[in-house]
Amino acid sequence: ITVDWSSGEYDKGSHEHFMRKEILEQPEAVRRCLRGRLDERFHTVRLGGLEMDAREAREFRRVKILGCGSAYYAGQVGAQFIEELARIPADAEPASEFRYRNPVIEKDTLYVAVSQSGETYDTLVAVQELKRKGGRVIGLVNVVGSSIARECDGGIYLHAGPEVAVASTKALTNMDVAFALLGIHLGRVRDVSPADGRRLLAAMQRLPEQIESIVADEEHLADVATRLAQAPSLFFVGRTRGYPVAREGAQKFKEISYRHAEAYQTSELKHGPLALVGPNLPTVAIVPDDELLERNVGALHEITARSGPLCVVTHDGVDLGVPAKDVITVPKSEPELDPLLLTIPLQILAYHAARTLGHDVDKPRNLAKSVTVE
Ligand code: G6P
Repeated sequence: ITVDWSSGEYDKGSHEHFMRKEILEQPEAVRRCLRGRLDERFHTVRLGGLEMDAREAREFRRVKILGCGSAYYAGQVGAQFIEELARIPADAEPASEFRYRNPVIEKDTLYVAVSQSGETYDTLVAVQELKRKGGRVIGLVNVVGSSIARECDGGIYLHAGPEVAVASTKALTNMDVAFALLGIHLGRVRDVSPADGRRLLAAMQRLPEQIESIVADEEHLADVATRLAQAPSLFFVGRTRGYPVAREGAQKFKEISYRHAEAYQTSELKHGPLALVGPNLPTVAIVPDDELLERNVGALHEITARSGPLCVVTHDGVDLGVPAKDVITVPKSEPELDPLLLTIPLQILAYHAARTLGHDVDKPRNLAKSVTVE
C-alpha cells in the first residue's frame, strides 16, 4: 500500500503523532459510521450494503468472524454483541489460521471478514476460500473498494476515514460500532423487542459524546501510562464482555511500547497467572459495572493482597472498595455495549506509554499497517 504523505487527509496538523490525531477523531468517526443507519421508526438499523432481506437474515444459525490483529479482537467483541443481542452462537477466529485448517463451511453460517485496510492477505485469502466453497461472507471494511470489500457478498463500510498509525484506533472503534449495528439488525429480526431496540439505539447515539469525555481525561491517563511504562511486564484482565477489551488493550500496549503485556480472563488468574503477580507486575483490570462486578472485585483483592500494582478501568460512580493505585472511569452505556467505551482509555494508555519511552509511535518496529503478503 502506498500512502501519499503530502496529501491533506494524511496531514498530522498540530498533532505530534497520527495515532493521537486518530484517537481524538473518534467521536466524529463514530458519527459518520452511524449516519443514516439508525431507523427510529422501527427501532432497528438500516444496513443497505448487506444486500440481505429479512428472511435471509433470520436463517443464519451461526456467525463466524475472521480478521487479523486488532481486527480479530474487534471480531471477539463483535461475536459477543451478536450472541448477546441476536442470540445466535458467534465466535471469532484469526483469519490467518482459518484458511489453513480446511474449515467446514456451513450454509446457514454467516461469515464476516473484518479489516481496516481491506488488503490484509490472510483475511483476503480466507474470504476467497469461503467463496470457493460457497459460503456467504460479508465484509466490515474501512477502505472503500478495497480487495476484501470487492470479494465479499455485501457488507458494512466503517467510514472511519483514513487511518495512518499502525496501531488501529478509530477504525477499531468503528469495527465495534459496525458489529453493534449488525447485532441490533440480526436481533430485531429475531427476539429483540422494539423497546430494547429503542434503548440500544439511544445508547448508540450517545457514544460520540461519551468518547469525547473519555479523551478529555488524557492528562490523567498520560500520568498513569508513564508509571505503567516503567514495568517490564503487565497483565490485562477482564471477563466476559471485558475479556476482548483486555486482549486488545494488551495488544496495543505491546505493539507500540514493546513491553510484555499479556491478557487473561480475570477468572483464570487463580489457575496459574497469579504466581507472577507481585510489586513488579502491574495489572490493568477491566471491571464494568455489570452482574460480575462483585466477583471481579474479589479477584482484584487477590492482586492487591500480593502487592500487585492495580489500575482499574471501570464505570463512573462505581465504588470498588479495593486499594487500586489508579482508577480510570468511563461513562455508563447499555451493558451489551460496554466493550466499546472501555477500550478507548486503553488506546490512550498505550499511546502515552510508547511516547514516554521515546518510541516511534506511528511506525512501531517490525510491524506494517497492512500485511499484504503471506
Ligand atoms: C497488521 C497491523 C495491525 C492490524 C492488522 C489487520 O498486522 O499491524 O495493526 O490490526 O494488520 O489489518 P486490517 O487492515 O486487516 O484491519
